Amino acid sequence: MNIQRILPRVYGILTNFNTCAPLTNTSTIRFQHDKSSINEHRAKVMAKGLPEKKPLPGVKSIVLVASGKGGVGKTTTAVNLACAMKVIEPDKEIGLLDADVFGPSVPLMMNISGEPMLNDDNLIEPLLNYGVKCMSMGLLVSGENAVVWRGLMVMQALERLTRHVAWGPLDCLVVDTPPGTGDTHLSLAQNLPIDGAIVVTTPQSAALQVTKRGLNMFDKLKVPIIGLVENMSHAVCKNCGTRNYIFGNETKQMAEQMQLEMIESFEVDPDMSECINSGKPAIYALPDSIHAEKYRQLANKVFKYISNKDKEEATATK
Ligand SMILES: Nc1ncnc2c1ncn2[C@@H]1O[C@H](COP(=O)(O)OP(=O)(O)OP(=O)(O)O)[C@@H](O)[C@H]1O
Ligand SMILES: [Mg+2]
Repeated sequence: MNIQRILPRVYGILTNFNTCAPLTNTSTIRFQHDKSSINEHRAKVMAKGLPEKKPLPGVKSIVLVASGKGGVGKTTTAVNLACAMKVIEPDKEIGLLDADVFGPSVPLMMNISGEPMLNDDNLIEPLLNYGVKCMSMGLLVSGENAVVWRGLMVMQALERLTRHVAWGPLDCLVVDTPPGTGDTHLSLAQNLPIDGAIVVTTPQSAALQVTKRGLNMFDKLKVPIIGLVENMSHAVCKNCGTRNYIFGNETKQMAEQMQLEMIESFEVDPDMSECINSGKPAIYALPDSIHAEKYRQLANKVFKYISNKDKEEATATK
């Protein structure tokens, strides 16, 4: 196979942004169009509407893992979910896209590194670990270099990570998203046919408030919510087994208020944190733990959700 090294090409594309001609001094800008032709141009652009959502070739379903809030365990959930889906349905093909362009953690948590390659079709080959096909900006930008980009560049990078990767065939692509409600979410929701989003939150009111913003964003973008996952719900005392609700206990109440289902809840577990941070997701490192069992149940719910959605879509098109 004619596999070529990819970094120069990726950098080639990205440096195009950086070599844009500097802005001309405003005094030298000449206005070449009158107002009516500008309005005409605007009308034409607006008539085109939002970009068309095009499926990813060979990818049957796309599920986002998101939250408005940072540090609540989105990547931990996305990684364990993708691995659990592969564990419970080994014949299905599962992918994991790290859409956190500025703070990619998937390479660390999935224990993947090294330059991805280009295949004969000029597509980036995802890296495979634990049977899951993975792609992340962290694999394309070397070491600890910071990515300092504006919105348009982020969108272009996402386009690369989605449409220029040899994802297919995939039964489900799990997408880990960055914190916030910004360009990444907008770009993903506008360009990809997303089947649903799992929203991760911790139980303290500060996190729930921001999570609500995330939920409202998905409502506006017409992305269905599969359910809420509560992470770090409580800690269990190793000596006496008492549950300590260190961060409060308001997630269920919010789920009810927003008419959403809380589909899983994970307690704080230092072992789980240690595993994921050393590139061995709990689902493999601690297969008999409560967490691993809950991730398998979560994976089951996601499979059920996507298969029901497929059936609904098939009936709707009849
Ligand atoms: N249930 C848990 N018990 C113990 N530690 C956890 C648990 N869930 C996540 N962690 C730890 O919390 C830290 C943050 O998790 P993670 O990186 O998944 O959050 P995130 O929401 O993706 O963060 P970001 O917003 O920065 O992308 C990690 O070190 C992870 O190991
Ligand atoms: Mg993350």
